[in-house]
Amino acid sequence: MALRARGTELARQLLSRHAAAGSAVAGSRGFASGHGLDPAQSPLQQQIIDKEEKFGAHNYHPLPVVLNRGEGIFMWDVDNKKYFDFLSGYSAINQGHCHPKILDAMIKQAKKLTLTSRAFFNDSLGEYEEYITKLLGYDKVLPMNTGVEGGETAVKLARKWGYDVKGVPKYQAKILFAKDNFWGRTTSAISSSTDPDSYEGFGPFMPGFEVIPYNDIPALQAKLESDPNIVAFMVEPIQGEAGVVVPQDGYLKKAQELLHKHNALLIADEVQTGLCRTGKMLCSEWDGCQPDILVLGKALSGGALPVSAVLANDDIMLTIGRGQHGSTYGGNPVAARVAIAALEVLVEEKCAENAARLGPIFREEVMAIGSPLIKEVRGRGLLNAIVVDPEAKVEAWDICLKLMKEGLLTKPTHRNIIRLAPPLVINKEQLREATGIIAKVFKSL
Ligand SMILES: Cc1ncc(COP(=O)(O)O)c(C=O)c1O
Repeated sequence: MALRARGTELARQLLSRHAAAGSAVAGSRGFASGHGLDPAQSPLQQQIIDKEEKFGAHNYHPLPVVLNRGEGIFMWDVDNKKYFDFLSGYSAINQGHCHPKILDAMIKQAKKLTLTSRAFFNDSLGEYEEYITKLLGYDKVLPMNTGVEGGETAVKLARKWGYDVKGVPKYQAKILFAKDNFWGRTTSAISSSTDPDSYEGFGPFMPGFEVIPYNDIPALQAKLESDPNIVAFMVEPIQGEAGVVVPQDGYLKKAQELLHKHNALLIADEVQTGLCRTGKMLCSEWDGCQPDILVLGKALSGGALPVSAVLANDDIMLTIGRGQHGSTYGGNPVAARVAIAALEVLVEEKCAENAARLGPIFREEVMAIGSPLIKEVRGRGLLNAIVVDPEAKVEAWDICLKLMKEGLLTKPTHRNIIRLAPPLVINKEQLREATGIIAKVFKSL
């Protein structure tokens, strides 16, 4: 009884702290039902949001819109209002919402066999493994589910390679990460994070990780020269969550040359940049570089279900032996069929070419809005961001709210950066229409 009373008091304190945290994020935006979120656009949406707030953990801060349908580049809310999707599920929906080919593959397989676990073989996984490895030019793939599991797998693989092949003394292996990296929310992922929102209050942290500045070859070189136990550098070819930070041309290639000189591996986290998002199948291709370990996720299923993958050649991949790594759902037959379809759609619908063609047009048109609030428009292909003048009174969040009201959905990353990443099946006219909405909003501010 005493414990329950103490628990209730703690819950009350946490709820009021969350409301205050919401107000810190929300600034002057006002709250719905006193829980730190912005008011919904209709009573129906408010009711649904209130339910999530009451029964769900408060670990997200969503825009106040309740969606219930998606098709291609559009989504609709429960009041049937239509929106351009310029977030694409954080780049998971590269193929567009509910792509018929992906859905068809999913439904057909789901009606036959959904899960065997890897205790047995299924007749879909091998086909997928052959398809993805041939498409991307690796000997082998290790299937997982979420992006962060892909990152965890890459870390384990690099450590194992470090001990078995490089000869690093037992449990002395180090992995480097870049400042402002983001690869998920597990305790390992936050152990390499430099964002206090990610790691603060969640220690102790995973040992054997070190952070160097992003886009800084001399820093990598100095680190490699000072520490023979470094086995890998895990890095995003463009830092997505950090605000679409594009490094200098050739960064990845130079990094890999240095790493190889010091007998260490390049792990490319292409969970967000991969699968045509930046105008090539893999963003590393822009640098003419093939990462030693490649991590993919998100668009590998086109948004249908969590599917991630780690690819490497035999000299690395086979250091993990039978029984040393796995996942109940990793490589399940539905995921395998969906991933084949998702990859085929990217190739058949020339998503990379479309992103490469429309990206520069988009950046040019947004810059041409000529708003003093727009400090910079940056990105590659259809992974872009508007940097709002940090001195301006208006925050990225407020702009996203206005964009939402005008029928375009996206989410800020940091206080003054708006990420813009539509599905890659968007055409030029649709892109122009969306840019028109962005222009209208910026001109109204
Ligand atoms: C670059 C990168 N890596 C890994 C992840 C983690 O993916 P997931 O959320 O599927 O675990 C993300 C998610 O946003 C990401 O952007």
